[in-house]
Amino acid sequence: MESIYGNHLRELESVMEYLIDEINTVREFMKQEAGMDPVEHVIYRIKTEESMREKCRRKGLPETEESALKVIHDAVGIRVVCAFIKDVYAIRNHLVNLSNCRVVEEKDYIKQAKPNGYRSYHLILLVDEKIYAEIQLRTISQDTWAALEHHIHYKKVTTEMDKLIISELKRCADELASTDLSMQTIRDMIRKSIADE
Ligand code: GTP
Ligand code: MG
Repeated sequence: MESIYGNHLRELESVMEYLIDEINTVREFMKQEAGMDPVEHVIYRIKTEESMREKCRRKGLPETEESALKVIHDAVGIRVVCAFIKDVYAIRNHLVNLSNCRVVEEKDYIKQAKPNGYRSYHLILLVDEKIYAEIQLRTISQDTWAALEHHIHYKKVTTEMDKLIISELKRCADELASTDLSMQTIRDMIRKSIADE
């Protein structure tokens, strides 16, 4: 069977590599400037043939190159996990200012969490007016929560027990968010104390 990406797979890979290089550039810059790597880890992938076709079917789209490259925007996916909330925004600022990238969608689920407690910063960039890439930026705590929530896959509320599980998950998300703020405050205090010395 012909690839749903036609002959564009190399192009997708090179856009992904380009964005990772840019993330590494800002990372190096911040390391030099602040003495600390702002990024805990980065993961990335080109969506597999199989999961792209599955997404097309789920969205009622034909399984074509057009759907995979123009209608669906996450053939290229990158997740950047940072220790601190401010670092998430610093990296976001670098990416949205790249001259060959246009922001086509931005969702700040950190300022405005999803009702289930999910927090993350989502960016969709159009690179060189051609290839879309989805970048998710989040803290370690947010990543931990998302991994757990994804693992247990809790969506359809049916019984009272299910409602309790969902509200407990939400409570954990909010507690983690509050810890993220405290950790950020502690780092700010440490930096100020060093600067004042
Ligand atoms: P698409 O049609 O897939 O683009 O969805 P969307 O644009 O409505 O979704 P959104 O931008 O909110 O989410 C895209 C991605 O974020 C998902 O594929 C997940 O990786 C992640 N995500 C969004 N919401 C949740 C959530 O509640 N839990 C977890 N674990 N991940 C989420
Ligand atoms: Mg989306």
